[in-house]
Amino acid sequence: MKYSHFGQKLGANSGIVSLMEDLGEALNVNPDLLFLGGGNPAQVPEFEALVAKHMHAIADNTERLHKLIGIYQSPRGSEEFISALVPYLNSHMGWPVTNKNVAVVNGSQSAFFILLNMFAGRKEQHGVNDALRQIIFPMMPEYLGYADQTIEQGVLRGFMPSIEQTADARFKYHIDKDGVTLDEHSVAMCVSRPTNPTGNILTLEEMDYLTALSQQHDIPLIVDCAYGHPFPGICYDDPQHYFNESNIYVLSLSKLGMPGTRTGIIIAAEDVINKLVNINTLINLANGNFGPALMTSLLQGNELAPLCDNTLLPFYRQKRDFALACVDKYFADIDYAVHEPEGAFFLWLWFKSLPISSEELYLQMKQRGVLVMDGSHFFFGVDETSSHGGVSAQHAQQCIRLTYCQSEKVIEGGIALIAEVITELLA
Ligand SMILES: Cc1ncc(COP(=O)(O)O)c(C=O)c1O
Repeated sequence: MKYSHFGQKLGANSGIVSLMEDLGEALNVNPDLLFLGGGNPAQVPEFEALVAKHMHAIADNTERLHKLIGIYQSPRGSEEFISALVPYLNSHMGWPVTNKNVAVVNGSQSAFFILLNMFAGRKEQHGVNDALRQIIFPMMPEYLGYADQTIEQGVLRGFMPSIEQTADARFKYHIDKDGVTLDEHSVAMCVSRPTNPTGNILTLEEMDYLTALSQQHDIPLIVDCAYGHPFPGICYDDPQHYFNESNIYVLSLSKLGMPGTRTGIIIAAEDVINKLVNINTLINLANGNFGPALMTSLLQGNELAPLCDNTLLPFYRQKRDFALACVDKYFADIDYAVHEPEGAFFLWLWFKSLPISSEELYLQMKQRGVLVMDGSHFFFGVDETSSHGGVSAQHAQQCIRLTYCQSEKVIEGGIALIAEVITELLA
């Protein structure tokens, strides 16, 4: 076949494709693997019971059922949903947005495909197709799902972090303010907060810094809120949410427990929303109705905030504490450090004296029956020749990510097995 540049670049195997393949294999083909990879949220029985209640109510009402399955949604998404969401953002979060600042798409992955390509790439200038526009990721590691999404090459620039040792066997990444450099090619910045893969939450001071930097360069800061506020709010130490009107916020229903509904929401200036809606309509025609219908029900019943605060947050906090206790117990004789798990549902482990790459480590672990995420995929767009915050390029080969969304049995069994493999390697 003679494929286009688009076909070749986006059709190639990428980190996110192998991640989703692993996830599919583990969950569907080989359920005996101890699965600590993937970004699936946990199964939370109280949440699923709540969803079931709302689904029954919709199914029992002919008009609501027809709206759910029998109509194409309007381009920017369900007006009923947006009209329920906006007052929640206004009153619960204090975000001064209107319906015109909101659009719905089929999953936030899809939102990022549109956003990244909307800003990054070449722009014809004075008839010359030469102005390369780049997206800045001010702090690696970042969500690998962004990495291969752009149609053009070389348009993502990542910067390594600085590292603070916060306690014995604990560390936290910070933005290396001296290392992050924007130039005339920079068209947007992007961060996830909390961050996938590390569970880091950028401090309010760092958010102020990034917002000011983006305003100085007259470019948007895209904030991926998949794990944070306004929902599901998996932020353990309750750092306040952050809002600034010049930023673009991307929300998702996935980590609330509904990845199957494929619902992403973008909050941005009207102009950005209008362009994004046009592109989304070209690609998808319309959005799925299922996620917005369920969320409308939750919002109208005032059930969203209690769900986040009283069910999901304590659920994930308990899982985090358990996983962390297992790591400290089984790794007692290993040279390791864990990133402070401030939010989301991952542990990010750093083995400073690892004699092999994290990819080889991942493969060995998979062979032994435990599936983790190779950390190297989360460092992308980094210029390896420059020095970054004192962090060596090797650091990107020394980390793995674990999810703690599984049962205690799987978490403990998986961590014990990881400790065995690492102990043999370091012996
Ligand atoms: C940080 C982050 N952003 C976006 C996504 C995409 O999520 P979805 O397309 O399910 O909304 C994920 C999925 O794992 C993620 O971890």
